[in-house]
Amino acid sequence: MCGIFAYLNYLVPKQRKEILEILIKGLKRLEYRGYDSAGVAIDGDNELDSTKVNTIRIIKKRGKVKALDEEIYAQEDLNLDVEYDMHIGIAHTRWATHGVPSALNSHPQRSDENNEFVVIHNGIVTNYKDIKKFLESKNYEFESETDTEVIAKLIKYLYDTHETKDVTFRELVEDVVQQLEGAFALVFKSVHFPGEAVATRRGSPLLVGIAAKNKFSTDHIPISYRDNRGHHDSGITLERSDSLVGFQVVGDNKEVEYYFASDASAIIEHTNRVIYLEDNDVAAVKDGGLSIHRIKRETGVAQSREVHTLKMEIQQLMKGNFSTFMQKEIFEQPESVTNTMRGRLNFENNTVLLGGLKDHLSEIRRCRRLLFIACGTSFHSAVATRQLMEELTELPVMVELASDFLDRKTPVFRDDVCFFISQSGETADTLMALRYCTERGSLTVGITNTVGSSISRDTQCGVHINAGPEIGVASTKAYTSQFIALVMFALMMSEDRLSMQARRTEIFNALERLPGLVKEVLKMDDEIHKLAQELYQQKSILIMGRGFNYSTCLEGALKIKELCYLHSEGILAGELKHGPLALVDKTMPVIMIIMKDNTYLKCQNALQQVVARGGRPILICEKGDNENQQYGSRVLEMPQNIDCLQGILNVIPLQLLAFHIAVLRGYDVDCPRNLAKSVTVE
Ligand code: UD1
Ligand code: BG6
Repeated sequence: MCGIFAYLNYLVPKQRKEILEILIKGLKRLEYRGYDSAGVAIDGDNELDSTKVNTIRIIKKRGKVKALDEEIYAQEDLNLDVEYDMHIGIAHTRWATHGVPSALNSHPQRSDENNEFVVIHNGIVTNYKDIKKFLESKNYEFESETDTEVIAKLIKYLYDTHETKDVTFRELVEDVVQQLEGAFALVFKSVHFPGEAVATRRGSPLLVGIAAKNKFSTDHIPISYRDNRGHHDSGITLERSDSLVGFQVVGDNKEVEYYFASDASAIIEHTNRVIYLEDNDVAAVKDGGLSIHRIKRETGVAQSREVHTLKMEIQQLMKGNFSTFMQKEIFEQPESVTNTMRGRLNFENNTVLLGGLKDHLSEIRRCRRLLFIACGTSFHSAVATRQLMEELTELPVMVELASDFLDRKTPVFRDDVCFFISQSGETADTLMALRYCTERGSLTVGITNTVGSSISRDTQCGVHINAGPEIGVASTKAYTSQFIALVMFALMMSEDRLSMQARRTEIFNALERLPGLVKEVLKMDDEIHKLAQELYQQKSILIMGRGFNYSTCLEGALKIKELCYLHSEGILAGELKHGPLALVDKTMPVIMIIMKDNTYLKCQNALQQVVARGGRPILICEKGDNENQQYGSRVLEMPQNIDCLQGILNVIPLQLLAFHIAVLRGYDVDCPRNLAKSVTVE
């Protein structure tokens, strides 16, 4: 779970300072993926001729990207004015998996003390110990605790032991990755191949952005396959292939810039033309031309890669008037929920059309059961909609945490339909659960926010929730949009059920009202800020509710935990008597959600039990519900929507509360400690 960014300029003169600025900016955009250390590798100075490349300079620093930026400017011997017509710089922001966060363990990792080959890596090489042992037997000395270092050293080993020096950079990389097991996205740079970049992926995301003034030779880059085979004496097979260039700029002006990144948010400010690499693709840039290679032809793998035009706008990635991305994303919810429904719901005739699922609907309707598999907040969206799903589909519905689902080796059958809910579309446990279900022949459906992500691509069908990029590590707008996507699916499943038409009409009306009601809830911000001032020094906060709002409690508690570093627990009010009540006294802050739905009386009962133990809970209830207010120390009156959608409104005060408490406690809201946005390892 790291961020990869690389920048190659060809015939576009850039000063070293500009190159470093581009790299640092790219890393800042990717910082949400991990931020415990960062590094860059650029061309170094050649004492004889400063424009001739034969050294690589690596600068690394523990801490966030800002610390790296400062480190770069603290380098007294770094001439920032040197200009390059052709240059490749690689950069990385790390989230430690193997080895503690430190400059030495951060990336780029290098082959040797001359930095002949350097590499940046996202993912985990599971067989690194075997490779390390092999290289140690060849007298390689390792300096870091990372799995990545074996990659840098292995490529040097293959280069050094190659019988002739006419091997290409790309061929070397192909040979390296054939030895690797696990997940990776990699970008390489080498003193032996100046101005060349080679990138590849398996299991971790990687895309290539292209910017050029002139037209591209093609929008479909053909894949080149290896043809000839050769061997060398290392015991590791080296193979040769044609050097077909898949893509170049046409016309006299050959200027071109390439960007390699873990996701589009780092690229979009430079270009909207991107290629999503597939697993096992090797992309190589040489002399300004890009080619994409695979070792062998496989059925079902497209013969070319399309140059896509991104529709994402740069403003979508900026904080605007807000202090943090999280705050911006909370306040974006009136628009993001609208975008999830846009073009899919018709409120005039109460119909729903999810383009991605329409062809699979009859198969889904025939299934034995529905499984919803996810992690974290995405899991909560499944809990939130389970009751309605059961009601409208009349199918058994299982909700599963991906890690536990895999631990249990849960039986899955061909007539199951398995949903994978993931904002990023890259979460390792969810992705592995997807592979597990694919192997067992069930229909796989993605509910993802990130177009082009692994889960979006590897599921057979699905729904993009269209909430727009979510940068804050704590998920907010993705939750409310996932919720709506699942409700829309339930509506689609029940369109032929006459007996359900009244309920469906009610839900359509409620969805139409929703964006306006979300706006109304956001006006409670000042009130919630005051509440946060009362609560921010507490050590624990309990949140209770049941039925449609159980997930609201889980999600609210997760937000408080992850952002405020204080204990918080979402408690099913029905379980109160079975343990949690022992925690309640007059000092324990308790938030209770009491809605006038089918659990109203039971929630009132729970309230009485809390009050009887001296508790003065904070109540979240419906506007105008005066029955319980006397028991609350504070009352948040919520605009009312239909029972099954009320959770979308009720979660917002809890998102805001977590945000304000975190700010009051002086914490970094967008990058909470110990967490990453995209957890791409188990
Ligand atoms: C699509 C277009 C949208 C256009 C609309 C109307 C895309 C990404 N979306 O939206 O721009 O406005 O048609 O013509 O091009 N999928 C998965 N797994 C997932 C998510 C999606 O396999 O996790 C698949 C779907 O089955 C579908 C495709 O990806 O084949 C696009 O899904 P989605 O964006 O939800 O479809 P539409 O709403 O139809
Ligand atoms: C991480 C994030 O833990 O992964 C959470 O910090 C998120 O916000 C969870 O809910 C699952 O991520 P995704 O991308 O699969 O929804």
